[in-house]
Formats: sequence, structure tokens, C-alpha cells
Amino acid sequence: MTLRIGFVGCGGMGKQHLRILRELDQFKVVALSDVSTDALAACGEEFGVADHFSDCGQMCDAVRPDLVVVATQTRHHHGPSLAALERGIHVLCEKPMAIDPVEADDMVAAATASGANLSINQQNHVNPAVRRAREMIDAGDIGEVVLVRGRNKHGRKSGNEFTEMGTHVTDIMLVVGGMPNWVAGTVMWEGRHVIPGDIMEAQQMSPKDRDSGPVAGERAIAHYGFEAGHLGEIHFLGYEALQGTNYGVDVLGTEGQLAIRVSGEMAGGLWHLPRAMEGTPADLGDWAAVDLGENAQGKTVATMYQAVAAAIAGDGPVPASGEQGRMAMEMVLGIYASHKEGGQRVDLPLADRRHPLDAWRSEG
Ligand SMILES: NC(=O)c1ccc[n+]([C@@H]2O[C@H](COP(=O)([O-])OP(=O)(O)OC[C@H]3O[C@@H](n4cnc5c(N)ncnc54)[C@H](O)[C@@H]3O)[C@@H](O)[C@H]2O)c1
Repeated sequence: MTLRIGFVGCGGMGKQHLRILRELDQFKVVALSDVSTDALAACGEEFGVADHFSDCGQMCDAVRPDLVVVATQTRHHHGPSLAALERGIHVLCEKPMAIDPVEADDMVAAATASGANLSINQQNHVNPAVRRAREMIDAGDIGEVVLVRGRNKHGRKSGNEFTEMGTHVTDIMLVVGGMPNWVAGTVMWEGRHVIPGDIMEAQQMSPKDRDSGPVAGERAIAHYGFEAGHLGEIHFLGYEALQGTNYGVDVLGTEGQLAIRVSGEMAGGLWHLPRAMEGTPADLGDWAAVDLGENAQGKTVATMYQAVAAAIAGDGPVPASGEQGRMAMEMVLGIYASHKEGGQRVDLPLADRRHPLDAWRSEG
């Protein structure tokens, strides 16, 4: 069965999706939506899609797609996603899911009410290395899980490092570690704790980056408690240079460790250390690559589309569901919420559904 797609957002990532979709027989893009007529004209010509709309709701009513893909920037995820979900149309929305938990709640509620599937394109959710790590953990290959450690690739400033890229990392932490139930975090700016006067919009801090809402600080550290009883941690170290090979998640167990890397030259890599601790740097040669077969360098966005199609056909779970995307986002925003309370633990999901920085700003 061919799934007909109504595609929203013809910018940089949108074109990347459209290139990938051109190679996937299961999908046909039947209409494009963008607020920019130039972007519509350029994408329409490049990808041979003639039906154009400025509004996602109008597109849905006119062409009744099976799936709407939302590839706009974060601030514009909520509107088009709701328009589709409220009409019972499945959605694959780009990450991070939304600007704040209020918007994310609306999206999850609309999907639940209409029965449509909502997935967030945190594509490493279906990365073969990440899935294999989860299987190895479930099989007891590293004993009892002790710590799940998120690792960033840096090279960006606060908003884009924490919110844009951070949710990719927290999403992988969710796949391997399960749901967290608290977070404690500290955020630093220019060598001191962040204060309300440091809060700004992402593009004020970094004009060339995307609009990911309010941000503060350049460095942060947080730890998490997971429902299963293990701990988690994440660092945002604010290095200026991009460090793709650092990007992924480590899982430390009582009898071994796993190292997942999802970008750079190690994309799709999974390594196993068959004992709990590394010891000295001279022992690092004990790490062994896990054979992932031909999937090792998985094209994860294509894999995400295949998983979305399987879920629509009733042949698999909704990949990177709205609920999981919302928690991946709250794991990042929760760092601000905890910092605002002097670094003390705050429960996840967050009790206050406002963006924690908006809440802090309004409280002065
Ligand atoms: N999953 C990944 O690996 C990955 C990689 C890169 C980007 N992204 C995500 O993709 C999203 C888009 O990023 P980008 O760099 O392509 O942005 P972009 O600014 O290049 O493109 C956004 C497009 O959306 C259009 N737009 C804005 N508001 C709209 C609305 N209400 N309705 C329809 N169209 C609208 C703009 O005109 C523009 O053409 C972001 O959420 C980003 O985080 C994800």
C-alpha cells in the first residue's frame, strides 16, 4: 500500500526528507505546504509536486493525505501537527517536538482523541545500534544497568545544543534506559550560575541557529533517576568545535559497558566492554565492536519512515511516539526547571507545564 504524504516545511531538513522519500516506494508526496511561496516553488520543481498550500489544514481537507510530515522549525510544529491530528491524519513531526510542554500536551491529546499516530523524528530511536544496545541490556549482557550517560556533539550554542540537539540524546537515553522520573541540574553562564536576567531567545544567543524558544546558559550538567532504579547523566560542555564522534550514549552496567555513537565517522557504531570499569587508558583496547551486520551504517531517517509505515499498517509500535518525544524534551527543559529551584530534584513529567524559563522570567 502506498502512503500519500502531505509535506509541511520546504526548508533545509524538508528537502533532506524529500530526497529520502524519493527513494522509498512505499510513499508518495502528493502536496506541499509552506508559508513561503519561493520555498514551495523551488521544492515543487525539484521534487515534481504540483499541489501547493500555505496552510496545513487546507492541504489536509483538499488532498486527505494518509500522513503529514512536519519539517518546520520547532515554533511551527504545534499548528500543522494539530491540524492533521485533529483530522485523524497520522503525523511524523521533526524534533524537538514543541516549544514547551503545553504544546506537546496538545499534540499528544489530539493524537489520542482522533486515534492518529504521532511520531517525532528523533531518528536514532530506530538506529540499529541503539536497538541492538537495548536488546543486549535486556539479555543481561552488561549485568544490572547502573548509569545511562548522554553525550553531545557540541559545536553549537545553548539553545541549539540543549534543546535542538539535546533531545536526540535524551531520546536515545529513553530507548536504552526507559522512562526517567526525576532530574536535577545546574546551568552556568560565563563562569557563574544562570540568573533570570540571562534568559534570552535562542536566536539572540546565536543568530545563525534555529528558533528553539527561550534559552539560558552555555554549560550544564544534569542527572536523572529512571523508573527502573538506575541513574542517568548528561553534560552540555559548550565546546566550540563540533565533535561528532562524541555524540551518543554510554550505558554502564555491573558486568560490562556499551558505547553507542550515532554520528561522525562512527555513525551507527556500538561497542562492548566485557567488564564494569575501563581501568586505565591503556585498557581501552578491550572494547570490541558489536557486529550489526549490513545495518551498521543505517540510514536512520529512511528506517524511521519504514517504522512509521509499519505502525500505520498495524505491524509495529508507533516509533518515537508523541509521549516519548515529549519526555525527551522534558528531560532537557527539566534541567532549567531544577536549576530554577537551586538544583534540587524535580519530578518528571514536569508538574508546571509552562516552559521553565518563561515561568522563571515571569516570577522575576
Ligand atoms: N532529525 C534531524 O536529524 C534533523 C536535522 C536537521 C533539522 N532538523 C529539524 O528540522 C526542522 C526544520 O529545520 P530546518 O533547518 O529545515 O528549518 P528551515 O528554516 O530551513 O525550514 C523551515 C521551513 O518551514 C517553513 N515554515 C515556517 N513556518 C511555517 C508554517 N507555519 N507552515 C508551513 N511552513 C512553514 C519556512 O518557510 C521554511 O521553508 C527543525 O525542527 C530542526 O530541528 C532535524
